Order: sequence, then C-alpha cells, then structure tokens
Amino acid sequence: MFTQRGERCWTYEEPLRFFGLEIGRIMSVMKLSSGGLFVQSPAELTPELKAQLDQLGEVRFVAATSKLHGHMYMEQYRAAYPNAELLAAPGLAARRTDLRFDHLLGDAPDPRWGTDIDQVAVAGHRWLTEIAFFHRPSRTVILGDMGYHIGDSSPLKTRLIARAFQIYKRISPPLEVRATIVNEETFRRSIQDILAWDFDRVIPGHGEIIDSDGKTAVANGYDWLV
Ligand SMILES: [Fe+2]
Repeated sequence: MFTQRGERCWTYEEPLRFFGLEIGRIMSVMKLSSGGLFVQSPAELTPELKAQLDQLGEVRFVAATSKLHGHMYMEQYRAAYPNAELLAAPGLAARRTDLRFDHLLGDAPDPRWGTDIDQVAVAGHRWLTEIAFFHRPSRTVILGDMGYHIGDSSPLKTRLIARAFQIYKRISPPLEVRATIVNEETFRRSIQDILAWDFDRVIPGHGEIIDSDGKTAVANGYDWLV
C-alpha cells in the first residue's frame, strides 16, 4: 500500500477523478527524528490504510497543502488520532469551520518538525496559497496543485487534456493558474525558494512521482516564470 521513497518517507497513491479526468492524488508520510509521523495531504482513512499507517508509527501531525488540496479527510484523522495536531494551510480554517486546527502553516516550520521538514508558503497567487514541503532525509519536495505531473500511465483523454494545460510530463500548475498570478515577483520568489532546497525527488499533488533529478524537472516545469 505504502511505497517507501528514500529515508523515512512513504507515499500512498489513490485514484481521483476530476471533471472526467483520471488525475489521482498522493498522500505523503514522513517519520520525524522524534519518532512521530507527519502526514501530508491525507487520504481516506480506510481500516486497511490505518493499519498500515499505524505500523509506520504514531500519527502526530496532519497537514493540508492548501485550502483546496489535501484537507478532505482530515476529520477522519481527528477522530482516529485525538492526540494528533491538524495543520491548516492559509485560508483553510475559514473553509473548514467544522474542524478545530491546532496550528496555522506559514513560511517557517515549527521546531517540532523543522529538523526534518522545511516549508515555503507560496505567495503571489490569487487563490493558490499552498505550502510546499521539503523532507531533508529523503531529499524530497512535496507539492500540491503547484505540481501536477501527468505521465504515460494516464488514460489517453487525461493525457490530451494535460498536454493542453501544459502539465503533461511537466511538473507545473495547470495553465489557467498562470493567468491568476497577482504578483509575479512574489510568486517567482516562492519558486526560487523551493529550487534552493537540495532535493532530488518530487512528489506532485497529482500525477507521477519523480524519483530522481527532480530539481531539473521543477526548473523546466517553471521555465515560464524562473
Ligand atoms: Fe489538488
């Protein structure tokens, strides 16, 4: 169920249909030096998934990537893990008033996960205010909708639309996202902050994981901006 991605990092991929397209979504789990688990973009907590997750360690933090991505099943984690903290991306607390968040994610990591995980709050966009994470031990960057990456394994229709939106074999947000950047300089700086990390692997929000040479892939995917 989980696939290990380098040191103390695992992913779980689940199918997701969006406007008839098979784009899938990816949950990441990192084991912190302190022993607990940091879950990003949680998947539906089925009994099977919970059993596997519990084998990896104790869930301590559950993070949404943005107010749009990765918050869908947080209430299930709240119920199953009462001691875990829910981390809200910018704007999410106002959207999910049914949840009580323990922490608001910004540009600086909390010391409790900062040894293992760094983060950048992507700014300068009208609505895509997501948090990009960098897991040091596995040299992995984890994105949400900032990083679609549709590849060969997707059905033909998905590949054709992905090509039109310039996210086919490119790690980039869909084309329409570019039209809603409000401050290009600020947005560019966020991408440059991500590119400054020493990473090799990229876990996109949707699509295929890039296990090596991920920095080149991000630089190429954002060549229209950086
Ligand atoms: Fe998404």
